[in-house]
Amino acid sequence: MRVLSGIQPSGKLHLGNYLGAMKQHLELQHEHECFFFIANYHTLTTVQDRERLLELSRDVALDYLALGLDPGKVNLFYQSDIPEVTELTWILSTVTGKGLLDRATSYKDKIARGITPSMGLYSYPLLMAADILIYRSDLVPVGKDQLQHIEMAQDMAGYFNNTFRCEVLKRPEPKLNEAPVVPGLDGQKMSKSYGNTIPLFDTAKNTRKRIMSIKTDSRTVEEPKDPDGCSIFALYRLLAGPNETAELAERYRAGGMGYGDAKKALAEVVEQLLGPARERREELAADPAQVDSILHSGAVRAREVARVVLSDVREAAGLAGTF
Ligand code: ADP
Ligand code: TRP
Repeated sequence: MRVLSGIQPSGKLHLGNYLGAMKQHLELQHEHECFFFIANYHTLTTVQDRERLLELSRDVALDYLALGLDPGKVNLFYQSDIPEVTELTWILSTVTGKGLLDRATSYKDKIARGITPSMGLYSYPLLMAADILIYRSDLVPVGKDQLQHIEMAQDMAGYFNNTFRCEVLKRPEPKLNEAPVVPGLDGQKMSKSYGNTIPLFDTAKNTRKRIMSIKTDSRTVEEPKDPDGCSIFALYRLLAGPNETAELAERYRAGGMGYGDAKKALAEVVEQLLGPARERREELAADPAQVDSILHSGAVRAREVARVVLSDVREAAGLAGTF
């Protein structure tokens, strides 16, 4: 089974990204052949600053590796190392009705948030379909927000195969992760665009400061508290074991514990996860040649597959070539 997913380098990754996406990716690496890539062509629709895009792209690679992605098992690579993907994007655009793209909700959402409506942003689902179809991916693990894009990729595989009466492109299946929405410092969904994140890789001190700034209600230390309505507890339960979680819930209900203590408990479990990863990340960051070599090996393998599929696509469509 071939598993594929992409993550955009559109900002510093945060605990919501880890719990909502990366953690599942890291689990899948033990079971399947995985292709995970850094979707920098996609991010070019929103980050148009050379240095920043380069830095954010590399950061995603460092973050994944530090959190336990095993390059011996996973092909990790930059999307832009596989230019075949852009050629397939064009070919797919010729068999896809404009109406399909008109229905993409993510385009409308992004416009509503003030992102420039470029052709790239509009064609984004075509590029994402090409990403998926060019590796004949079986399974695409994503969050719910991406489901429509996977369905479009399924449709586009069908349009191509029907148009050219072939079975060249494989229909992918989505694997929806059931991770709950991770709340941010203000209780809303944790998101880079809301400025309410706990970044994965900040200093231990800054991370702790962010956690200490989580908004709570104004109950006094003595008053019993409701764990279920509290973001500190929601985050804690996603990171701590069941016994520790039950214990903290008990302390909430009993009264006599201030939110400050709950935040300290949360800061500890966060540090247990991120402390060792932070060290690994520093080591990796100090050895850029090693990281480049990992990304290169991933790209070599991905490109091998992409070339074969693209060649079948060209052959089926009757695109002449002399190379
Ligand atoms: P952001 O909202 O910070 O811009 P993205 O949309 O780039 O994050 O997120 C990439 C993936 O990370 C999403 O598809 C989703 O699966 C996951 N993710 C992001 N934020 C959260 C969150 N608060 N809770 C759960 N999953 C999240
Ligand atoms: N669009 C996805 C996101 O914003 C990232 C992505 C690009 C992707 N290409 C992909 C995800 C292919 C899965 C498969 O999160």
